[in-house]
Amino acid sequence: MTSGSWWGWPMNANVVVKVKEVVSEGKGLTTLRFDLDRTARPGQFIMAWVPGVDEVPMSLSYIGKTKGITVREIGEATKALSEIKVGEMIGVRGPYGRGFSRPNGRYLVVGGGTGIACVMPAVEVSGDRTVVDVALGARNEGEIIFEERARKGSEEVQISTDDGSQGRKGTVVALVEEMLAKRSYSQVLACGPERMLFYLLESCKKFGVESQMSLERYMKCGSGLCGSCVIDGRRVCADGPVFYGREIDEMAEFNRLKRDEAGRIIKL
Ligand SMILES: Cc1cc2nc3c(=O)[nH]c(=O)nc-3n(C[C@H](O)[C@H](O)[C@H](O)COP(=O)(O)OP(=O)(O)OC[C@H]3O[C@@H](n4cnc5c(N)ncnc54)[C@H](O)[C@@H]3O)c2cc1C
Ligand code: FES
Repeated sequence: MTSGSWWGWPMNANVVVKVKEVVSEGKGLTTLRFDLDRTARPGQFIMAWVPGVDEVPMSLSYIGKTKGITVREIGEATKALSEIKVGEMIGVRGPYGRGFSRPNGRYLVVGGGTGIACVMPAVEVSGDRTVVDVALGARNEGEIIFEERARKGSEEVQISTDDGSQGRKGTVVALVEEMLAKRSYSQVLACGPERMLFYLLESCKKFGVESQMSLERYMKCGSGLCGSCVIDGRRVCADGPVFYGREIDEMAEFNRLKRDEAGRIIKL
């Protein structure tokens, strides 16, 4: 998505969009919908700018003409995004990055916590619910989002929560292991906390299933220029955020190290 338009202005340049819908998805989680007529793939992200506050990376939770981001409030920028009202404006750059590639055959989509928002377009893009199954995991029932979307777009949806308030009690990785034991999948597509992805990758390797996983690192430019998001020499914003499991398996920093906002390498 770095190609230019015919008159030379980059197609993913900063634009200001009007928020046309705000949906509360539960405690601390808000979806903002806005029109943005740019092609996007599942797993791609935008840089969302709140004037006077900050600009932060957000996965696209909807990729049609009316796009969407789903924000978990954790700090200043995500609080400001969560407080946006219908009719207010935000700045958008992107979509950026390498998204999920559509696998051949039946595939399993796995979302953990806020990562559910990032994988949901990968469920819907199949256009054939008989080739997709979904596993959703979160700490508790209130954090399971987009269950209805998942059911509409796939044949089987399984849910796990850490506290057992919905679905299977335990981690989504344990749930996925059960699903992999029952049925064969061509690939597993996933987004979630890095610790979850680490164990999920181990499970995929155990079952001999290829995977694609969306990673997060600190992003400034979002477009491959500044180097702040590098993991083992790969720019998460431009070479990822979605990487194949076999690529992640070679990353020594995966589940161990990341860079902070000053570029210092710190423990994850
Ligand atoms: C590719 C990608 C997709 C993401 N998708 C989503 C999403 O769909 N929904 C969602 O709620 N969050 C998403 N995030 C995380 C989100 O960008 C951070 O939660 C947000 O930047 C925090 O900013 P803050 O000012 O609210 O919090 P701060 O208090 O400034 O930061 C809290 C923590 O958030 C992380 N963070 C802060 N700034 C950045 C940054 N510029 N880049 C990466 N991480 C940062 C750091 O770990 C930091 O410790 C995504 C991150 C990446 C890299
Ligand atoms: S955020 Fe600048 S290179 Fe990735």
